[in-house]
Amino acid sequence: MENSFSLQDKCILVTGASSGIGREAALSISKAGGSLILTGRDAMRLEQTYTSLSPGNHSCKALDLTNAEELEAFIDSLPELDGIVLSAGITGHLPAKYIGKDDYESFFNINYLAPVLLISRILKKKKLRNKASIVFLSSIATKYPYFGGALYSSTKAALEAYSRVLALELAPKGIRSNCISPSFVKTPMVEGAAETISSEVMDKFEKMMPLGFGEPQDVANAIVFMLSDASRWVTGSNMVLGGN
Ligand SMILES: NC(=O)c1ccc[n+]([C@@H]2O[C@H](COP(=O)([O-])OP(=O)(O)OC[C@H]3O[C@@H](n4cnc5c(N)ncnc54)[C@H](OP(=O)(O)O)[C@@H]3O)[C@@H](O)[C@H]2O)c1
Repeated sequence: MENSFSLQDKCILVTGASSGIGREAALSISKAGGSLILTGRDAMRLEQTYTSLSPGNHSCKALDLTNAEELEAFIDSLPELDGIVLSAGITGHLPAKYIGKDDYESFFNINYLAPVLLISRILKKKKLRNKASIVFLSSIATKYPYFGGALYSSTKAALEAYSRVLALELAPKGIRSNCISPSFVKTPMVEGAAETISSEVMDKFEKMMPLGFGEPQDVANAIVFMLSDASRWVTGSNMVLGGN
């Protein structure tokens, strides 16, 4: 019987593959039979992901997605893709009264502009096959305000709106666009946040989550589903993980 959750013969690009959710997604995609193109900034951590993949036709390239020239050259080097996972991103806490133009640019450049430009360049250069699947990492932060979260939440809310429009524009080609919005996942991003948040507050956050904090694998499973033919009738959606 055909396994519609398989990623056999699919070529998938994963951004943010040097850490956390992107790394775990890459490992799971390779286990499901997909070939991977991995990106991240840190060449050594990216290589660690690459060498941990299940055997297959994989490659990796360290680059900063906010660098227009690096991005352009990278896209030129890509083969035709069956899926894209946009996991690269940053977080941080900054109360509204301290937000300056530089802060706005550093959040929006990587969390919003880089995915938007990456997709537009890939579409223009016809690197996305019909029936491909695009998966954006948003966050439950768009629905649940937290102190200092204005910029982060705004980037993700913008990404959700963008993904819904993309779903509409690409539907004639059978290309799907969806967001996955996890609550707290135990990755270096959250460990970094925990350095500035007291353990009492982190415990309080965890108790507020119906299913507690998640593991990167919990998100990777949802990503594999969104990339696979099992989700062929799902587009323009935002899958919330961890309960709300
Ligand atoms: N962890 C959570 O609780 C959580 C919850 C909801 C949503 N999310 C979202 O899930 C995604 C992944 O988060 P994570 O927890 O896995 O974070 P993470 O462990 O900090 O990983 C972030 C990844 O983004 C890459 N990156 C950052 N800036 C980049 C740039 N300018 N160019 C290229 N790559 C860049 C990093 O590369 P290097 O490390 O190589 O620099 C790293 O691979 C993010 O979009 C995040 O907003 C996370």
